[in-house]
Amino acid sequence: MLNIQRLDLNHISWCLDILTSNFDSPWKELDTIFENSANRVYGAFIEGEGVGFIVISTILDESEILMCAVNPQYHKKGIATDLVKHSLKDLKVLGVVAAFLEVDTHNLAAQGLYKKFGFETVGQRKQYYRQPNGSYHDAIVMRLSIR
Ligand SMILES: CC(C)(COP(=O)(O)OP(=O)(O)OC[C@H]1O[C@@H](n2cnc3c(N)ncnc32)[C@H](O)[C@@H]1OP(=O)(O)O)[C@@H](O)C(=O)NCCC(=O)NCCS
Repeated sequence: MLNIQRLDLNHISWCLDILTSNFDSPWKELDTIFENSANRVYGAFIEGEGVGFIVISTILDESEILMCAVNPQYHKKGIATDLVKHSLKDLKVLGVVAAFLEVDTHNLAAQGLYKKFGFETVGQRKQYYRQPNGSYHDAIVMRLSIR
């Protein structure tokens, strides 16, 4: 059974493992992400094993989803869906009125995830994500009204 809870720095190791298994150049600054009080990190657990997490930064009544990643062995099982659902419920309680995020134009899985919740494309950032081969991918900026 899936369980979702707030994470702290004690959980950084398995979160880093999940990033490394998903990205060629994962975030190196995850410790500062955990330490920043504007950020909330939620983790998904199955029988005590951390299988996914989401990072959300909130300033006043707006939030930004900075990252959502799931252990590849658990992809397509609804884990990210549950993480986003849980987070949006908490943001609503906090009085947040809008959530934003940036996603790689090539990342169709993440775009599908966020579209499911009603996120809409509101902008584009050209040449935003550097690839290991030195080329760049554009980013889409997405927004969701939270009511
Ligand atoms: C994006 C990611 C978090 C989705 O996690 P997940 O737990 O597999 O997602 P879910 O099972 O909850 O799927 C939710 C929706 O995402 C979309 N989706 C997920 N995987 C997909 C894939 N491989 N191809 C297309 N759409 C996909 C679908 O719309 C899906 O809804 P559906 O099951 O009703 O069709 C996961 O693929 C991942 O960790 N990717 C690497 C990290 C990353 O790119 N994060 C996003 C940038 S912050």
